[in-house]
Amino acid sequence: MKIKRLTLNNFRNYKKQTLNFDDNIISLCGKNAQGKTNLIEAIFFACIGKSFRTNKEKQLIKWGEDFAKITLLASNEVRTKKIEVIIWKSQKKTVKLDGLPIKRIGDVLGEVPIVFFSPDELKLVKESPEERRKFMNIHISQTNKKYFYLLSRYEKILDNRNKLLKTTKDFNVLKENIQIWDKALANAGIKIIKEREKFVNEIQPFASKAHEYISGGERLRLVYKKFEVADENEFMKKLSKALEKDFKMGYTTFGPHRDDIDIFVNDQEVKSFGSQGQQRTVSLSLKLAELEIMKNVTGEYPILILDDVFSELDENRRKKLIKFTSRCQTFLTTTDESLCEGKIVRVEDGKAN
Ligand SMILES: Nc1ncnc2c1ncn2[C@@H]1O[C@H](COP(=O)(O)OP(=O)(O)OP(=O)(O)O)[C@@H](O)[C@H]1O
Ligand SMILES: [Mg+2]
Repeated sequence: MKIKRLTLNNFRNYKKQTLNFDDNIISLCGKNAQGKTNLIEAIFFACIGKSFRTNKEKQLIKWGEDFAKITLLASNEVRTKKIEVIIWKSQKKTVKLDGLPIKRIGDVLGEVPIVFFSPDELKLVKESPEERRKFMNIHISQTNKKYFYLLSRYEKILDNRNKLLKTTKDFNVLKENIQIWDKALANAGIKIIKEREKFVNEIQPFASKAHEYISGGERLRLVYKKFEVADENEFMKKLSKALEKDFKMGYTTFGPHRDDIDIFVNDQEVKSFGSQGQQRTVSLSLKLAELEIMKNVTGEYPILILDDVFSELDENRRKKLIKFTSRCQTFLTTTDESLCEGKIVRVEDGKAN
């Protein structure tokens, strides 16, 4: 898939903007605070259904306006996809896919697959397990819609189970009432674990290869730190065994909502021992590996978005990255014109030309 056209109305600092893209690499170039990231945030929002910067969607509406609209047209040799999103100030957002309204954002996920990378993605390596779960979730959801719905179901069940744990005073009453949630949680939970396991196994060889290439020989190893259960029954047994603890704590103390990925470079845990540069290379390698496994699943490379990435890399790594980017349609942003590749789009004060 390639993005052919993007139209913005009242999105962030854009009043009205249409851009057509014919090239493989598009460089959005301009000074700070002009609207480069805003533009790719709009692409991300249309493809993933949320922003990478904020959970408060209303912030995306241009100040003083009532709505923001993104229209994205993408195509490959066999199909064209049109995604329209309107974020309203005073009502829920509306999303259309090929002209038809859709109810759930999951229905748009994966229609135009993307991989996003920015210096901020270092948090994928450095920060809490939540970041690595998010990484797994966004990736798997784009290639497997069932997973996205499964995850929403799991989160709702978990929420209900936790409410019960918090509000029930009598342990015996809790024991009785919680069974229905345990069964549902185990049913969805085991499937999530299996999908994540598959994902980590799939991404491992590509991530190692990318990392070895970019770092010049370092070994990268990923270990999925999962909640160890063989099947639904064992999951339920472990839940009931831990009930007293959960009762005391007031929440569900284990399950795939606590999963993580341990990342090692040359057998050292990179989160604690890696240098900033190593951590950056790991997060980049993971993203490049994502490109490859998405291609394996969908048959074509996703769209790659690189926000402010080039300025952070030395020339050698930059060149290696460019080799990868030539495989797929790439949007990159930079303040430095000498780092631009392909078609240059100049961004100034909410206008792109
Ligand atoms: N809802 C909004 N309405 C109008 N303008 C907004 C809104 N949200 C953000 N902006 C403006 O957008 C600007 C930021 O744009 P953006 O993040 O795209 O900059 P950038 O070109 O990527 O800059 P940098 O090179 O610093 O990353 C802010 O300075 C702000 O003035
Ligand atoms: Mg920016």
